[in-house]
Amino acid sequence: MGQGIGFGKVILFNEHFVVYGIPAVVSAVGAKTTALVEREGGSGYELKDERPETPGYKAEKLQQQKESLDIMLKFMNIDTQHDHYVITLGGDLIAASGVGASAASCAAIARAFSEELNLNFSDEKVNAVAYEGEKGYHGTPSGIDNTAATYGGLIWYRREGTTQLMERMRLRKPVEIVMGNTGQVADTKIVVAGVKERKEREPEKYGRLFQNAEKLVWNARKQLENFNLEYVGAYMNENHRLLQEIGVSSPELDAMVHLARESGALGAKLTGTGKGGYMVALTPGRELQNRVANEIARHGSQALLTQIGV
Ligand code: MEV
Repeated sequence: MGQGIGFGKVILFNEHFVVYGIPAVVSAVGAKTTALVEREGGSGYELKDERPETPGYKAEKLQQQKESLDIMLKFMNIDTQHDHYVITLGGDLIAASGVGASAASCAAIARAFSEELNLNFSDEKVNAVAYEGEKGYHGTPSGIDNTAATYGGLIWYRREGTTQLMERMRLRKPVEIVMGNTGQVADTKIVVAGVKERKEREPEKYGRLFQNAEKLVWNARKQLENFNLEYVGAYMNENHRLLQEIGVSSPELDAMVHLARESGALGAKLTGTGKGGYMVALTPGRELQNRVANEIARHGSQALLTQIGV
């Protein structure tokens, strides 16, 4: 039996903008997806998805998950004509929009096949397989999710043409965050296509917004490195505003972001695809983290308590 893991992620700055070559900051979250692969006689494969989920997520993603698996199996040159594989997904990462669930499963599956078939995949190879797998879900992924899922930690990420550039970042110490789940499932392919369409329709407005996003992320990087969390929070708020302007927020996300800020978070923004999924709030210290998480739970949403920069 082969086993593998993939990290869940939280994008702290510049989802969507990253698709167009603007730098972004992403961090792994504590939760992971695990994959087990067992080879048996026969042909084809069977997928047992035992991950915890936002209700409806797995059913909605089933077709994309199948496409993704087919792409990965082909890319890894796995023979499913003369062998049958049972792939079991599990772990504590909730299968939901915004936490990198698809990328985490792709990295975990690549690692599990590598172990089962003694393929000795390097992290670089796992990342390449997971990137291919992401195409089943995203169409044109920037590569940020598979990079975070494969390597973990805090990452400065940029895409230059077809090259994916990552740089490790360090925080002085880990910082508590709260991720609030709207419970809504979003389709990354559709949301990314919407941005593209509006960007083409309104080039001047989007040109200005994209320039602002680029300037913002460099400033945010400096403040993260200097551990000026008040400023980091303010930049998260500003990043949320830019994301609203490119049309990827939703009333539910805006309400949760507002609630987190009102409860004392230093900053809050949507994270990942948007149009549902998760928001992230910067809440240094257990006390503030619990206060914000309790408020979110009191309003009927699920809150995930974790840290960045671990
Ligand atoms: C999704 O987690 C992040 C997006 O920027 C898409 C991508 O980067 O491929 C929305």
